[in-house]
Formats: sequence, structure tokens, C-alpha cells
Amino acid sequence: MSGRDRVVVSIDPDDHRGPVDRRLFGALVEHMGRCVYTGIFEPEHPMADTDGFRTDVAELVEELGVTLVRYPGGNFVSGYDWTDGIGPRERRPRRLDLAWRSIETNQVGTDDFLGWTSRLGLEPMLAVNLGTKGVTEAAALVEYCNLPGGTEWSDRRRANGSADPHHVRLWCLGNEMDGPWQLGHTSADRYAEIAAQAARAMRMVDPTVELVACGSSFHAIPTFGSWESTVLERAGDDIDFLSMHAYYEEHDGDRDSFLASGAAMDSFIDAMAATIDAASARRRTRRRVHISFDEWNVWYQSRFAGAENLPIDVSGPRIEDVYSTVDAVVVGDLLSTLLNHADRVKIACLAQLVNVIAPIMTEADGPTWRQPTFHPFAAVAANAHGDSLVTRTTAPTLATRRHGDVPAVNVAATHDAETAEVAVFLTNRGAEPLTVELRHAGFENWRLRSVDHLPADDLGPRPHETASTVRLTPLPHHSSTGRSTELTLPARSWTSLRAGLEPAADGALNPRDSHR
Ligand code: AHR
Repeated sequence: MSGRDRVVVSIDPDDHRGPVDRRLFGALVEHMGRCVYTGIFEPEHPMADTDGFRTDVAELVEELGVTLVRYPGGNFVSGYDWTDGIGPRERRPRRLDLAWRSIETNQVGTDDFLGWTSRLGLEPMLAVNLGTKGVTEAAALVEYCNLPGGTEWSDRRRANGSADPHHVRLWCLGNEMDGPWQLGHTSADRYAEIAAQAARAMRMVDPTVELVACGSSFHAIPTFGSWESTVLERAGDDIDFLSMHAYYEEHDGDRDSFLASGAAMDSFIDAMAATIDAASARRRTRRRVHISFDEWNVWYQSRFAGAENLPIDVSGPRIEDVYSTVDAVVVGDLLSTLLNHADRVKIACLAQLVNVIAPIMTEADGPTWRQPTFHPFAAVAANAHGDSLVTRTTAPTLATRRHGDVPAVNVAATHDAETAEVAVFLTNRGAEPLTVELRHAGFENWRLRSVDHLPADDLGPRPHETASTVRLTPLPHHSSTGRSTELTLPARSWTSLRAGLEPAADGALNPRDSHR
């Protein structure tokens, strides 16, 4: 650690970067491993609803606060024929899925998934296959989902039991087409061409759709930057978002760098925003392409064999990472980073939702439980409303091997003027406790409601038996006045603070709320 050891954070209601899009709290449901089968869907399970979806999982999805779900992949989509997944289940084919070397039974398809999201009040985000399929299939899927009837595909949907259109607004134009592992991987030029054509055809079917083109699969991929420039040059007028994907893990026991993953995400987003701005300047356009960070998480890829080495099986487990409280602190930090870019990042998806590198786990024919990473996501999704505040922070720096000097404390805050609520999220990335003075004099009638935290411990991955003991607990040391709040953040911890801005009913001044 270097620099001054006292941390001062200032927030003000007038100093903000605009609203937090609620679509920032999305997740990916991919036909991969046990995310769909024995994850969200298991007709034989005692808790299954009449459509075969697990109600115990649905309850946790609701508690997690997810707002949007991206489907059906991921790499899976690049070999997927969506027509396999519609109509009577007994007639649907069993296909070899090359992405994850699985047998896809197609017992869940477009209508089933969209029925599930509709019952849960989630916004769907569908990906079309631009790897082994193309413009015709993409436009037909929009027709199937969004036209009321009177055409081949919309009538097929009606015949399959969905009389009303699904009204799917958000669509991904393929997945990770920059990656050599992707079925149908191609050059930026050719991808931009097919993405633009698909986009135009899809908008001809339904002009209200919003479209996400593939950006880079990870920051270090050699084509990052040039890929985006080409896509924006050729398809910039046809798309609304560019995607970003990033997964983080601890390498060689380098915990400091791992805990600073938010700083790496921060530079990735800055670089992407600069690339978008440069392309807009060249194209002399004011039309803003936003960012859809539609895959992010902690994922121990170094423990994963690689798809080519997997045995072919039917929904066998795939990358079921078991998370620790350290991973949860990193997830909290990554969420703060996304909030701190709310003016550019409008959509984000934790990848994935159930069983596959997921906050929610299930046992086939058994229980479901929350991984440690569930808790920061649920807290941020529940409390981050309104505008994303600019947090002016003076903090010591932490020297890391992978990311250089990073701020020891990462802070994000939101202010909801309608409900008069403020939320502040703080990560102490360093190995020493830190005292933070949070200055909030510009907020009238500041009343602290809760300060909860999650310290990282050394207990390692938490399987089912010990995962249930992990939760956010009240931060022991904090005190607040109307002008500032003082908090002692334990080493390597994540904290969530909530304040209300309503005057006391009895007209009393803001009480000193002390927990020392
Ligand atoms: O989420 C797992 C995989 O990671 C997705 O299928 C792919 O898009 C990414 O590489």
C-alpha cells in the first residue's frame, strides 16, 4: 500500500452520470452443462411447475434480482437451429452440440424459455446464430417471436400454443464471432457484413428491435480494437450496442491482482468507449452505440480442460465452479465498476445464472443453494436505483503484478430521487483495514438505514454444506451524521450501505447512529 491511508469519498446529488439502466442486472442462460437441464428445467423434480420449470430455482432467481436473461448462448448458439426447439416436445430432435460436446435434447426451446421469462417478469435477450446459420434464419426467428400472425412463422408460433407475440426487444447478432473457438468464426470484415445484413432484415420484420453486435471476447485478444472499428465502420448505423465479455480468476496465488479485477474491467470499458468514440468521430455521427457487457464473472478457466477434451454426454456438468468469499468480493467490485460506467454500459449479464459458473446451484432431484457470489449481486440489484453518482475518492494505491497501481478502495453509488434513497458500495481490495470518510453534505436529511458487509476469508471454495453460512452481515464499525459517515472496512471486504433522505417524522435532526 502506498499514499495516504485515510480514504475520503465525496458524493453529491448533482454530480452524476445519468440513470442506471435496470438491464445492468442481467444473466446468461446457455444450453450448456446443467444450466437449463436440471438447472432451470427439470420436469421430474418435485418442485417443477406444469411446464417443467423448477419453482425453487425461480424463487432464487427472483431473490437474486435478475432483470434480464440472455439465451440460448454463448458458444452454443453458433451451432443452434432454433426450429429444433419448437413444437411438440416428443418430435424435437436430439442433436450433437459441438460447442460443449453434449447431446441437446431440445426439450427447452424458444417458446418454453420465453414462457419462463414472462412468468418471472424477466426481459429476454435472444441471440441469433450467425456462425452456421444466417440472415434468413435470424429474420425468421424475429417473425416467429414478434409478429402477431398471418405469416408462416408467426402462425407456427400460434399453432405451438403462444397466441400472443413474445415481443422480444433485445437481440444479439451472434456470439463471440471474433474467437477462433467459435463455430463459424470469421474475420471482422465478413462478420460486419453479415451482422449488418441480419440487422437490416430483422428490423424489416420488426423495426422496434434493439441489436447487439459482437465486440471482443476478452481484452487481450489480439484483434481487440481493430475488430470493433471494422464492425462500427461497416455496421455502426445498424446496431445499438457492441458486446464485451470478460472473466477473471486468481492466477498463481496472486490475490492482490485478483482483487483488483475491477480495475482491469475498468480499463477494458474505457478502451472500448474510446474505440466507439473514435469510430463515431471518423464517421461524423452523433448516434451513440452503447455497451452490452453481456458476459462477465469470475471463472477459473485455468482449471477447465477445454471443450475439445470433453466426453460427449447429455447435459453432463460443465464448469461448475465452486466459489469462495474472495470470489464474492471480486464480483461485488466488478458490479461497482459496471455502475461507474452506467453512461456507457446499459446492459450486463452475469454468466451464467444456474450451475454453470453460477450464483445459483442445484442438485438434480435435490435442493438448490446460493453460492457466495449470489450475495453482492442481490444487494446491488436490490439497491442500485436512479442515477449513478460520481464518487470523488482520495485513497491509497495498491501495487499489483497484473494491473499496476490500483486504488485500494473502489466505490460506486446511486441516488434515486423518486424514492429518496442512496446506495453506496465499497470494496477494500487491500490486505489492511481502511477507514473511509464518506462525505454527503449535499444530501439533505441523510439517515443511515443499513451497512452490511462480506469479508473475504481464507476458507477457499464453499461447497453446498458451507455456502449457506455465507451472507452479508452488519458492518461492526461505522457512525454517521447528516454530513458524513465514517466506516472501517475490514481487509479484503465488500460493503453495501443504504441511506434514506426523508425528514424524521418528529422533525428531529438526523440522529448520530453509532456502532463502535
Ligand atoms: O459462459 C461460458 C462461455 O464463455 C460462453 O459460452 C462463451 O460465450 C464464452 O466464451
